[in-house]
Formats: sequence, structure tokens, C-alpha cells
Amino acid sequence: MRNVILGEPLLKLASVDSTNSYAVSLLRKDDVTEGTVILADHQSHGKGQGGNRWFSDAGLNLLFSIILKPVFLMAERQFYLSMCISLGMVDYFKSINIPAFVKWPNDILLNRKKVAGILIENTVLGQNLYNTVVGIGLNVNQKLFHEDLPIATSLSLETGRDHDISEVLNRILYCLNLRINTLYAEELIEIRTAYLNNLWLLNEWARFSDHSGFFEGRIADITETGELVVIHRNGQVMEYGFKEIVFPL
Ligand code: BTN
Repeated sequence: MRNVILGEPLLKLASVDSTNSYAVSLLRKDDVTEGTVILADHQSHGKGQGGNRWFSDAGLNLLFSIILKPVFLMAERQFYLSMCISLGMVDYFKSINIPAFVKWPNDILLNRKKVAGILIENTVLGQNLYNTVVGIGLNVNQKLFHEDLPIATSLSLETGRDHDISEVLNRILYCLNLRINTLYAEELIEIRTAYLNNLWLLNEWARFSDHSGFFEGRIADITETGELVVIHRNGQVMEYGFKEIVFPL
């Protein structure tokens, strides 16, 4: 089993287009050490999921990317990596006594509001993953959010005080490291069980919508490849991919 050490080295940038794009360009040019972390105070073109942008006020939040080389992991199992990252983030909040949940697939919620987003970019060689860039944006000390983001929150809004950003990073890297090493030890059943135990709305009836409109359903499971399994009130069981289901606010 391999062990990764996250944050060695740690590259600190004042401003960059996107820490994920920077990490991808490093991987193209050099032989980069696994576990390298790229941290920025500001991003001019922060990338979010599904081609969205990630906005963050300069110097107030955590914006970083981690380079991993999970070459043992089959590409069809890449959701296990996503689960580990989500779990590491939830572990961090729990370690400071703040209840946190994962909103499928990998948004981190405090008080039903999004505090952190994760963007994972993989390259595949044959059937396995080759290089991975894990990008994480965590709202730390920002208190005002754009009106298009009414369901955003930050660590400072939830705790009522400002936080030292580098201390938050160190603690998060510690929590992520533990979870990533469980992946590298191929503890897949434990990872999936822990993910389900921390999943927002698991087994609760709620009002979702999909391509055919609103419906009442309950999240029952996730598939091996990360689709969300939802049981409708009429008994129908559906599997949803990313962006195929909308959650209640
Ligand atoms: C999401 O849409 O929820 C994912 C957001 C991911 C944002 C982070 S910020 C650091 C890293 N660099 C990027 O350009 N994006 C990720």
C-alpha cells in the first residue's frame, strides 16, 4: 500500500487563473510529486462543476488543488476518490464540532447551505486513473455572497468569528490525508458506507425534480459508479447522474 503526504510541497500563489488549471499545466510540464498542493489567494477564472465559474473574494477563502496519482484505481471506480474527498471535508467540520453533510455528489453543506465545492479532474490511462487534480473551494471568512448564490455560507458565518486560513488548510489536509490513505488501502466498502452515513437526505422523503417535473422521493443508495438511487412515492426506482436531479432548497 502506498501512503501519500498532502502538502509536500505546498506552492503558494497570490493570484492565478485557476489552481486546477495551474496543477494541470504542472502535470504536463514536469514530474510533479504526488501530494503537491497549489494554494491561491485569488483566482481570476475559478472553475466550478459543470462548466460553471467559482467566485471567491480575494484573500478571504481557501482555494487549492491537490495533485494525486491514483494509478491503482479503475476509472469506473473514480467516484470512490470523490467520496473520500467529501468525507475528509466533513471530517474537518466535525473535528471542530460543526455538523456537516455531503449533498450528492460532492457539495459540502453546513445548515443546508453550501460552504465548499469540489472539482475533480482526472486523466485516464487504459482502464485506470493516471493523474488527478482535486480542486477545493471553501468559504472561510467571506460574509457576503452574490445574490445568485442565496444558499451559500462560510465558516465565519456559521461560527460567528473569523478563522486563520492557513490553520484551516492544515487541518483539512490532515483530514483529507487520512481518507485518501483509506482509498490507497482499497477500503472501498468502508468508504461507501461512510459516504452514505454522511449523505444529506438519505432515506428522508423530500421534494425533488427531474426532467419530468417535481416528485416526492427518497434517496436510497448510490451505485458503484456514483449515480444517485432514488425511490419515488409510487415505488419506481430511478438512478440519476449529475445534473439529472434537482434537490429541494
Ligand atoms: C463546484 O462547482 O462546486 C466546485 C467548485 C470548485 C472550486 C475550486 S477553487 C480551487 C480549485 N480551482 C478551481 O478553478 N476550482 C477549484
